[in-house]
Amino acid sequence: MASSSICALLLLLAAFSCHCHAAAAAAYRRPRAIGVNYGNLGDDLPTAARSVKLLRKANAGAVKLYNADQRILHALAGTGIPVSVMVPNDIVPSLADSRAAARKWVDNNLKRHPRVRVRYLLVGNELLSYPALAASTWGKIVPAMKNLRHALHAIGLGRVKLGTPLAMDALAASYPPSAGAFREDIADPVMRPLLDFLNHTRSYYFVDAYPYFPWAANQKDISLDYALFEGNASSHYVDPATRLAYTNLLDQMLDACIAAMDKLGYGGVKLAISETGWPNAGDPGQAGANVRNAALYNRHLARRMHKKLGTPARPRSKMPAFVFALYNEDLKPGAGTERHWGMFYPNGTWVYQIDLTGRRTARSYPPLPPPDDQTGKLEWCVLAGGGKPLNETAVALALNYACGQGTGTCAAIQPGGACYEPNTLDAHASYAINAYWQQFKAKGGSCYFNGLAVKTNKDPSYLSCKFPSY
Ligand SMILES: *[C@@H]1O[C@H](CO)[C@@H](O)[C@H](O)[C@H]1NC(C)=O
Ligand SMILES: *[C@@H]1O[C@H](CO)[C@@H](O)[C@H](O)[C@H]1NC(C)=O
Ligand SMILES: *[C@@H]1O[C@H](CO)[C@@H](O)[C@H](O)[C@H]1NC(C)=O
Ligand SMILES: *[C@@H]1O[C@H](CO)[C@@H](O)[C@H](O)[C@H]1NC(C)=O
Repeated sequence: MASSSICALLLLLAAFSCHCHAAAAAAYRRPRAIGVNYGNLGDDLPTAARSVKLLRKANAGAVKLYNADQRILHALAGTGIPVSVMVPNDIVPSLADSRAAARKWVDNNLKRHPRVRVRYLLVGNELLSYPALAASTWGKIVPAMKNLRHALHAIGLGRVKLGTPLAMDALAASYPPSAGAFREDIADPVMRPLLDFLNHTRSYYFVDAYPYFPWAANQKDISLDYALFEGNASSHYVDPATRLAYTNLLDQMLDACIAAMDKLGYGGVKLAISETGWPNAGDPGQAGANVRNAALYNRHLARRMHKKLGTPARPRSKMPAFVFALYNEDLKPGAGTERHWGMFYPNGTWVYQIDLTGRRTARSYPPLPPPDDQTGKLEWCVLAGGGKPLNETAVALALNYACGQGTGTCAAIQPGGACYEPNTLDAHASYAINAYWQQFKAKGGSCYFNGLAVKTNKDPSYLSCKFPSY
């Protein structure tokens, strides 16, 4: 009751302040909704102002930045959207070593935006995942937080919570959830003082938790449905130690963090999900990365947060959460999935619709595309290529070998056949390799051809040329 009346009061205040700034855009009725990570590692992304519109379109309850980008903060001023700002990894030690430096950082980056509603100040990003930073930075996280806390108090932002997002690799064990434990190298020297600070300031343990990764690494043992919050009673998992029943992989991961904190005596520290999400595309062969799964994951997440389900270890607990990410970011390095976490394409159109308040039911969304390219059961075997010039002699040998097996394997690439055009060695070889593999895979034929061939879930068919798949 108390919290809902405070909420009503805040809404009133928001409406009132908007009245004063009549020129400002219509009141942002802050929905209770999950937040969004606004990463901007792209060379083709919309302006900050347009991005704010898109955040509203998704009904984002908050936004999280990876720095203190002044243009973005400027665009967020007066919107009422709660903002989480991040201190870059490389300056954490200097802010720890000097209270004046912390003060200066806060003055330069936050003080000049009095109309930005700063909610969290995050000190570094996944710092404990970089052993190279162990000596220089790990021990500086809490001292930096303390200095920043003073600085925030000094400019009237004493209510801003400090934290530091950690990846799941802060844990040495996470399965079963009750076995959750921090890595030995960090448990005492780093986690204990950090948890003490978080507990003392009633802040959160911020975790970046992506069920996609453990699922992708272990598809034999983890069902996709369980990772996507679509599990049924038979896919539930019961922790043998606690007897708690899990219906999805994210809850397991979160409760492993709680168990790890508990083992150090800080089981009461609140949890916040600083990043989670599901990739909407990836490289050929990166299973499960598609629009359908991304939409299902994030929509279910929003819905669960709306219902305030908490986790089995902490039912009905309040847990701030931020989806990764606002955009597909083309400059992120790494596998194809890395560049495909967005709710929006860089041109500002939806990758898939989502209402982050979680109020919208699954059925009220337009139909999703089938679990196409990457997850589908269909597979093809084609010439690897990928832009590299191939050894023509070897390709020709592969083509001849493939066509020499079976019956009618290469009929479609004969003159007049549906796959004769384009009449190139590579195109014909791709067709032949696939045709061969489809006929012989069940008998042990492999998709290898001395490294020239690769499997894909993406249908290579074109025009009337159909690449078979059985
Ligand atoms: C955590 O904070 C609570 C409330 O301030 C306090 O009672 C408790 O002793 C703290 N826990 C530890 C392990 O310091
Ligand atoms: C339950 O989910 C599992 C894993 O996704 C699936 O294999 C099984 O067929 C499902 N059972 C029912 C009754 O839907
Ligand atoms: C936006 O980009 C996506 C992905 O490249 C594309 O499919 C879509 O057609 C584009 N929409 C517009 C309006 O340009
Ligand atoms: C190309 O492939 C052929 C046949 O496998 C091989 O004999 C030859 O050495 C290869 N050439 C190069 C440059 O790798």
